[in-house]
Amino acid sequence: MEKTFLMVKPDGVQRGLIGEIVSRFEKKGFKLVAAKLMTVSRELAEAHYAEHREKPFFEELVGFITSGPVFAMIWEGENVISVARQMMGKTNPADAAPGTIRGDYGVSVGMNIIHGSDSPESAEREIGLWFQEQDQIAYDKTI
Ligand code: CMP
Repeated sequence: MEKTFLMVKPDGVQRGLIGEIVSRFEKKGFKLVAAKLMTVSRELAEAHYAEHREKPFFEELVGFITSGPVFAMIWEGENVISVARQMMGKTNPADAAPGTIRGDYGVSVGMNIIHGSDSPESAEREIGLWFQEQDQIAYDKTI
């Protein structure tokens, strides 16, 4: 079954949106495979956003994601990578449709509440970066 990495960013945690966000994905029918509330080291932040290293906003991005706790998650389900991205809405909340997470709650392109893997390759890389195999629930092996 397909898996994706999702993270409620520091703005979403600070505004009390963890429950709302988890609820949306649960109600959609996806399964939560792993989750942790944590602070992010500079090393992890730089590795996570490695593809943006040369972008002018890289320092801002790393500074923001390490500024307060995040809620990191793995979700599982059919087409969860692309469906989760549809549920999140466009990266810039100004362009995100109402009814999407960023459309409903996002403030700016930096403070856009949630991160989600954008491809199967990113999902595999990000899951491996943030979680260990033993953190994950294998629902097909439980009742
Ligand atoms: P995310 O999905 O976490 O992946 C990369 C992030 O870079 C993106 O969400 C945005 O929050 C952030 N981002 C993209 N463009 C800008 C920008 N111009 N200024 C600040 N942050 C940006």
